[in-house]
Amino acid sequence: MTSTLSQPHLLGIEGLARDDACLILDTARSFTEVNTRALKKVPALRGRTVALLFFENSTRTRLSFELAAKRLSADTLSFSASTSSASKGETLTDTARNIEAMKPDLVVVRHEASGAPWLLSRVMRGAIANAGDGQHEHPTQALLDAYTLLECWKRSAAQGLAGKTVAIVGDLSRSRVARSNMLLLPLLGAKVRVAGPPTMIPAGLKEVYDVDVYDDVDEALFSGDPVDAVMMLRIQKERAGTAVMGSDRDYAFGYGLTAARFAQLKERRNEVLVLHPGPMNRGVEIDAAVADDDASVILQQTENGVAVRMAVLYLLAVGMTQRDRGAAVEGASS
Ligand code: CP
Repeated sequence: MTSTLSQPHLLGIEGLARDDACLILDTARSFTEVNTRALKKVPALRGRTVALLFFENSTRTRLSFELAAKRLSADTLSFSASTSSASKGETLTDTARNIEAMKPDLVVVRHEASGAPWLLSRVMRGAIANAGDGQHEHPTQALLDAYTLLECWKRSAAQGLAGKTVAIVGDLSRSRVARSNMLLLPLLGAKVRVAGPPTMIPAGLKEVYDVDVYDDVDEALFSGDPVDAVMMLRIQKERAGTAVMGSDRDYAFGYGLTAARFAQLKERRNEVLVLHPGPMNRGVEIDAAVADDDASVILQQTENGVAVRMAVLYLLAVGMTQRDRGAAVEGASS
């Protein structure tokens, strides 16, 4: 296994080699240890600047990337669209060029447009980490989800998720979390079942991803081998446009992880894990008591997000340093 990522940016899970995913997960494990110390800080990114560009709202991703940068001793530049000149009409490219003029080394971006991190990788010199782009991908969320599963099941990244079945339930068509997980979990060896209302399942899912697709959540959860973990997704109302949706009550009855469904899951696999990327809509996609049950690892996901994002920032910075050194050696010898 290499000690740096094979790519300069983390734009998505698509194209990420299994070795790269394992490197991030292994590196996160060492940062988890740092996060248990009384002094939770290491000098790994001292002198580096991390720009946090959030064009869309966030609680977990934004705070954990900021904390990750600070625990690595980096300086941070924090941007949010609502308090910036983006609200006066400045384009993404112009915003990026102006922030680039301040010379950040690493750039974390969340944007409502799919592909925005890729665009920034063309106009900025620093390494880009995608913190969620439109309906496309949320790679660090999938990495922290995988990390949480490995931690709960006491497995190393190299051992992966072979022999485990994970169900992802909810709004599959608009969820970047689902997309990144549908790529990462099978890459690590898990069997993945996805389920949701027929109107929230994109056509051709089975042809593109290594997953089994169900429009009946009970069939996804209660047929075949018992499910080892279930990941519930909220309806992405902010991206639903004019799509017609039933009431929250109807959704909970048809597709939510109700107390009754959870009891049936536990009958089949007593140690089943419940995940949710947040924010949760209690009583809609997940019953409040299920969210707070001992089987729920939702707050562990949030906790692990810090170590995983420390790993991503650290490895992207190491990769930059190695490429800079390589370029310097090449320049000296030519
Ligand atoms: N899971 C997630 O992306 O949460 P935030 O939108 O709060 O960052």
